[in-house]
Amino acid sequence: MSVPGEREAGLARAVETLARGEVVAIPTETVYGLAADATLPLGVARIFEVKGRPRFNPLIVHVPSIEAAEQWAEFDPLARKLTEALWPGPLTLVLPKRVGSGIAELATAGLDTIAIRVPAHPVAQALLEAYGRPLAAPSANRSGKVSPTTAAHVTADLGDAVEVILDGGPASVGLESTIVSTAGGRLTLLRPGGLAAEEIERVAGRALERGEGGPVRAPGMLASHYAPAAALRLGAHDVRPGEVLLAFGSGALRGAEGAVAVRNLSPSGDLREAAANLFGALRELDGKAATIAVMPVPETGLGVAINDRLRRAAAPRND
Ligand code: TXA
Ligand code: MG
Repeated sequence: MSVPGEREAGLARAVETLARGEVVAIPTETVYGLAADATLPLGVARIFEVKGRPRFNPLIVHVPSIEAAEQWAEFDPLARKLTEALWPGPLTLVLPKRVGSGIAELATAGLDTIAIRVPAHPVAQALLEAYGRPLAAPSANRSGKVSPTTAAHVTADLGDAVEVILDGGPASVGLESTIVSTAGGRLTLLRPGGLAAEEIERVAGRALERGEGGPVRAPGMLASHYAPAAALRLGAHDVRPGEVLLAFGSGALRGAEGAVAVRNLSPSGDLREAAANLFGALRELDGKAATIAVMPVPETGLGVAINDRLRRAAAPRND
């Protein structure tokens, strides 16, 4: 993307690709991201497919400005103070998600909060401005590999699966963003990263809490925060009286006509479609019955992450 005309053409291709619900690798100042339109569930599902992630973690949503961020997240005074001083930059805030904002449930793993940041890289900025929609993006590496800091790293890791890789040179920070929560008027460090804690404390005028002793806050564990109130009966081959049904595929099920409610993750058995629908379907069925009967989902491709999430949702609660 060194030649100006090339950069324009790259951005245009990226915009067209994102609008189709496909992924684009983008440079940011921290690491390269694998981006999809955060409002398109199938696009977000594609991120997990390409990364080969065995779990659905909530993703960071990227926007071009504080004004854009306010469309998707609720800002408190502390969040405003931090972002006015430190955005654009390697700082991600976890904030309450605006109700009905249109962010795909899969992007936030069904949580009521959203992790959001304004990246400082000029190519990321240009793409966010040109596209005009928020982009969900984890690091652009295959699951289990280290984060890429050059376009060549992305090509080596994901090249075959990603149509467009925007080259913005080596990432200047080279470490993922620092993640902070301001929930409950507290300032909590969720993940150390490319912005030093001292810098955040200086702006906030107070110390960061490290999250010890409180509820589980480690980002990797957050997917377990959202669990339906209903019990899940996995691998169901029938529907029992009083149950609701979370279906997959077109197979018939004994007792299905008696189900209190039915949601099908993908009538055609498409795992990407199923992933895109998973969190929304769980929310819709929750509260309609004491037990959700869940049809088997194949343990291949995105099915691995779908089953991981279902097993977590089915596990006994300790809260
Ligand atoms: O620098 C970065 O942050 C890079 C670039 C591409 O922006 N992105 C990145 O994304 O590192 P990812 O998906 O690898 O990491 C996202 C982290 C995960 O640890 C996730 O658990 C946490 O953010 N996270 C996302 N949403 C959250 C939420 N609502 N509450 C708490 N943590 C959240
Ligand atoms: Mg990562």
